[in-house]
Amino acid sequence: MKVPYLDLKAQYESIRGEIGDAIQQVLDRTAFAGGPFVAQFEKEFAAFCGTRFSAGVGSGTDALWMALLGFGIGPGDEVITVPDTFIATAEAISWCGAKPVFVDVDPVTYNMDPSKLEAAVTEKTKAIIPVHLFGQMADMDPIMEIARKRKLYVVEDASQAHGAEYKGKVAGSMGDLGCFSFYPGKNLGAYGEAGAVVTGNEELDRKIRMLRDHGQAKKYHHTLIGWNARMDGIQGAVLSVKLRHLPAWNEGRRRNAGIYDELLKGVPGVAAPKEAGYAKHVYHIYAIRVADRDRLIASLAEKDIHCGIHYPIPVHLLDAYKSLNLGKGSFPIAEKSAAEFVSLPMYPELTRDQIAFAVKGLEEGLATPA
Ligand SMILES: Cc1ncc(COP(=O)(O)O)c(C=O)c1O
Repeated sequence: MKVPYLDLKAQYESIRGEIGDAIQQVLDRTAFAGGPFVAQFEKEFAAFCGTRFSAGVGSGTDALWMALLGFGIGPGDEVITVPDTFIATAEAISWCGAKPVFVDVDPVTYNMDPSKLEAAVTEKTKAIIPVHLFGQMADMDPIMEIARKRKLYVVEDASQAHGAEYKGKVAGSMGDLGCFSFYPGKNLGAYGEAGAVVTGNEELDRKIRMLRDHGQAKKYHHTLIGWNARMDGIQGAVLSVKLRHLPAWNEGRRRNAGIYDELLKGVPGVAAPKEAGYAKHVYHIYAIRVADRDRLIASLAEKDIHCGIHYPIPVHLLDAYKSLNLGKGSFPIAEKSAAEFVSLPMYPELTRDQIAFAVKGLEEGLATPA
């Protein structure tokens, strides 16, 4: 039996007709860059997140960059985030000319440890980016409390957490701004590149809309130096179709996570993910931790069971961030988890049989002596 890490084809087959119709409408109206299909999706996505506004952009990386530019963050400023994330979180900070400052993660949720946050705040700190890693939100209440006390902006990196919740509040709706990636493999994935910035703040929304469109609110009247970070019309139309299915797909992921949890219970040497008491996890990634990760992944691949690693190197140890001079040992929890993470196959269409086969393979792999 083959167990792919992800199967975008299975999902496409289930919505083929709706997608074809939606794309045809964009072609018929030649609404390729921005336009009515993007505007329609923006309205629907804001309603989904429980925010007043949503601005479609070109990618999750664009979303984070536009968000920070929206606050006027630039050279001399510091922005706090976590080392266990995709590099884009830090890149957005760097491309504003600001400095990324890291806070270690919680050993259970792998998200920003709020108890370590305040020590990282300096007079240069302007914003905090908690990352809702793997589909589970960071512990937002204490993060927001520190941010309010120290007058810092909060940008949620919700790229992996479409529809996740914190005490009933939806990801993206708690910070000043929420950023999303619609990279094809995400819980809500486009058929190309796309992203969004959501907010309840009308002024900020207006600024993000200008920044993503060369700093103009009116054609050729450029009042800011912006960028081309617009969303494609086709992506807007595809995302509107897929958003209708997202609640059921997230439930499918949660069901599959429950099956993994049950089958992995009592398997020695495996730390399974835990849903925090405050959270509704949407399992973008089902990451376990094991000591001898590379050997396990290789033995599973031999059985046609395919895993990922998110992410093998914490951001502060990447060559790209050598200049920060943050060596090994700087963030021990992020480093240890990055060395042990294995992302098991996870998508809504995965079957119980496939999960059972993957867990059996995993048990055999762990039981085989090195
Ligand atoms: C946590 C996180 N932040 C940012 C991004 C960047 O998003 P994109 O690939 O759409 O630019 C991603 C996705 O790749 C992500 O997982």
